[in-house]
Amino acid sequence: MDSQENLQPINRPERHQNPNSKTYLLVSILILFVAISFTFTKTDYYKIQLLRHKFSSHSNIFQAFLEFLAPTQKPRKTQTPKPISKPPYCVLWMAPFLSGGGYSSESWSYILALHENVKSPLFRLAIEHHGDLESLDFWEGLPVSTKNLAVELHQTECTMSKTVVICHSEPGAWYPPLFETMPCPPGAYQNFKAVIGRTMFETDRVNAEHVNRCNKMDYVWVPTEFHVSTFIESGVDPSKVVKIVQPIDVKFFDPLAYKPLNLDSTGHLVLGARTNSLNSKFVLLSVFKWEYRKGWDVLLKSYLEEFSGADGVSLYLLTNPYHSDGDFGNKIVDFVENSDITKPVTGWAPIYVIDNHIAQTDLPRLYKAADAFVLPSRGEGWGRPIVEAMAMSLPVIATNWSGPTEFLTEENSYPLAFDRMNEVTEGPFRGHLWAEPSVSELRVLMRHVMNNMDEAKARGKKAREDMIRRFSPEIVANILADAIQNILEKSND
Ligand SMILES: *[C@@H]1O[C@H](CO)[C@@H](O)[C@H](O)[C@H]1NC(C)=O
Repeated sequence: MDSQENLQPINRPERHQNPNSKTYLLVSILILFVAISFTFTKTDYYKIQLLRHKFSSHSNIFQAFLEFLAPTQKPRKTQTPKPISKPPYCVLWMAPFLSGGGYSSESWSYILALHENVKSPLFRLAIEHHGDLESLDFWEGLPVSTKNLAVELHQTECTMSKTVVICHSEPGAWYPPLFETMPCPPGAYQNFKAVIGRTMFETDRVNAEHVNRCNKMDYVWVPTEFHVSTFIESGVDPSKVVKIVQPIDVKFFDPLAYKPLNLDSTGHLVLGARTNSLNSKFVLLSVFKWEYRKGWDVLLKSYLEEFSGADGVSLYLLTNPYHSDGDFGNKIVDFVENSDITKPVTGWAPIYVIDNHIAQTDLPRLYKAADAFVLPSRGEGWGRPIVEAMAMSLPVIATNWSGPTEFLTEENSYPLAFDRMNEVTEGPFRGHLWAEPSVSELRVLMRHVMNNMDEAKARGKKAREDMIRRFSPEIVANILADAIQNILEKSND
């Protein structure tokens, strides 16, 4: 596919003959097509942003867009035969498909699970980007098959009244959105067969504005029992709240399918003396966005207090910025200097930061190179890296609160106790509570795992079994398909 070719139509006057709906579809498809091109340039990107800006000022465009997708008006080249055999219903999944980040990878995992496992569904699948800005890096890192699927599903023809819309994003993005994004649903709620909000939070409650937005939905899907109870306790209509767990690609995250990444050449040393594969006995890995919520301070304190340069242990942090610059080495050194942690006589236990981009395809190899995974978060929606590590059969130490309580057990992991509930002091969830994981418990658990690797490996093995049994794409695809089928049957008119 060539970006020039795809860019052309917009400049051709004859394509503008049908001014309202067609132009909008064109722009929308164009944005996706241009993004899909492998020869993407900065100039193209700015053009798209301009186009987007221009068209987003029209209030009715999304309705027009959907109307345009009606079968009779479809400009599709590769029409599949026998339209009669196609189910009349659509599931339009709206999510930050092109953004990267939590909701993005979640939404892809649902789409891929459905696409690959539900062979004769009652509905056709459509996708639309919504809820966050596009990231070219992310898009370019997606497998070609996923990109092709994106184009295919983006062209699915849907009729509004037969469409179940899933707004997979934070409620502020739902119609009417509180920031600039394609609204979801793309038009009045009642125009659709049903509208579902799929969201989650990392604190002990849902704020009033979000509760109102949830209650406008026909259903609210959340990933865990923790969310079912926090949403209902916060005032979301209990009859609307449905638990739909998240899938994990257990074939992709399969320890038997990979050789470990060579850690000697991965990450840069920020504290302690360099170890190598010969003198490092125990490798701890953590994966997180650099934010207070993730408890990196708890992790550093526990690790540096428990271990020293003589232990033969190393800690690798795969991290990326969150509303902050990316100089994690200095942040860590600053943190240690300003803390009351005393430097052991044998020197600091080494800490490495991996802040260069690790391609999604190398991620399993990184997990494979570790002996254990640790994440003392204060709160998690789901905890994707935890689940990935578990699928990779790693023993996991993670805070026993919020989303991960859905899957952490004493048999498959090391649930980390917390000292107390603390108030969130900044950001949009100020005043909510989340857990304060125990530094001393974390020290005990890390040491225990290191000294009891046979037990830890057995828990890692159980972890993978649990991930396969509960969250493999086939399992979750069936849960999803059943939930959607129920909705279609209930709302039949
Ligand atoms: C983890 O939390 C659950 C409650 O959510 C509790 O029942 C369980 O005992 C806890 N496990 C550990 C190891 O603290």
